[in-house]
Amino acid sequence: MQIEIVTTQNENLNETGFGTLKACLSVFDSIERIGYDVKLNICKSKRDLEGIVKKKPDLVILAVKYISLQNGNNVWLSEYFSRHGINFTGSSRDVLRFDSNKISAKLYLSNKGIKTAKYFTAIPEQYRCASELPVKFPLFLKPTDAANGNGIDDFSFVTNFSEFESKVLSLHNRFSTTILAEEYLDGREFTVSIINKPNNELIISPIEIVPPESKNGLRILGQKVKNDDSEELKLIEDDEVKNKVINLAINSFLTLGVRDFGRIDIRANKAGDYFFIEANLVPGMTYGSSYFPKSCEIERALTYDEVIQLMLESGLSRTKPKIPPNNCINADC
Ligand SMILES: Nc1ncnc2c1ncn2[C@@H]1O[C@H](COP(=O)(O)OP(=O)(O)O)[C@@H](O)[C@H]1O
Ligand SMILES: [Mg+2]
Repeated sequence: MQIEIVTTQNENLNETGFGTLKACLSVFDSIERIGYDVKLNICKSKRDLEGIVKKKPDLVILAVKYISLQNGNNVWLSEYFSRHGINFTGSSRDVLRFDSNKISAKLYLSNKGIKTAKYFTAIPEQYRCASELPVKFPLFLKPTDAANGNGIDDFSFVTNFSEFESKVLSLHNRFSTTILAEEYLDGREFTVSIINKPNNELIISPIEIVPPESKNGLRILGQKVKNDDSEELKLIEDDEVKNKVINLAINSFLTLGVRDFGRIDIRANKAGDYFFIEANLVPGMTYGSSYFPKSCEIERALTYDEVIQLMLESGLSRTKPKIPPNNCINADC
């Protein structure tokens, strides 16, 4: 069994992925400990990818969604390896779109009756006054396609038009995309890791995340909180809450058509409604801090190696037998 991990230089971590090289090394070490022959590839060109295809590995583990070429184009790895008939982990290119673009996931799910915060999009100077805004204050502003808390801080929470305009402008200057403006959800926050086993059994690990209270009295998982690891991760004690969180996560996971594994972020409001926030389909895998392995540890007492093993099960079950089934390998026949 030959396994190749594919990653790229992605120290900016604007998009989801297993994380920095350190996180990929943890995944690598874990797979070695499990006993597989594994290589870690830091790819930056088509030639690097061609080299992997030539090796005809049994499974390619995608630690990032795409690699950026020198000419500025992105090669989406799931599309690339699927085109070359190589088995890979995680979701197809079409489904990964929901991870990269929060609006497309929200639209898709809300059309299927799954709750997600009311929203609209904005660019600087699109609106002239508060009464033109499609959703009422307070609002929460974030980039449509970033991850890891990038661009998210206390200024994301806006209660009047001048705060709105200034955060839209600063996010637009930094990310050059349309800004996602959502109704502000003033309740608790959860994340749910889901692993789909080869028999379609789902291993579901929900946890509550409690960010530290900011000096403005907000609890938000922004970039600084995530970098400092200052948020608290805990078991969901209340069964009713836990069931609501699990049901919303499973519904979102299945409706989006996620393959192998994914992490669904959920936030509630004070009235006790639960909302899909986003899907992380190549979830962070930093040993000791990333929510995916941590939630499996907190909810199910799984070690990091056990989590990796479970994440690979479906991919490994898709490996093609090396010997054609009709060929007899028994010396007697
Ligand atoms: N509508 C919202 N209301 C309140 N807080 C929000 C809302 N959307 C996001 N947040 C806060 O911002 C954090 C990051 O948002 P999220 O969309 O998950 O982006 P990222 O991809 O950076 O994780 C969330 O974990 C939550 O704390
Ligand atoms: Mg998130």
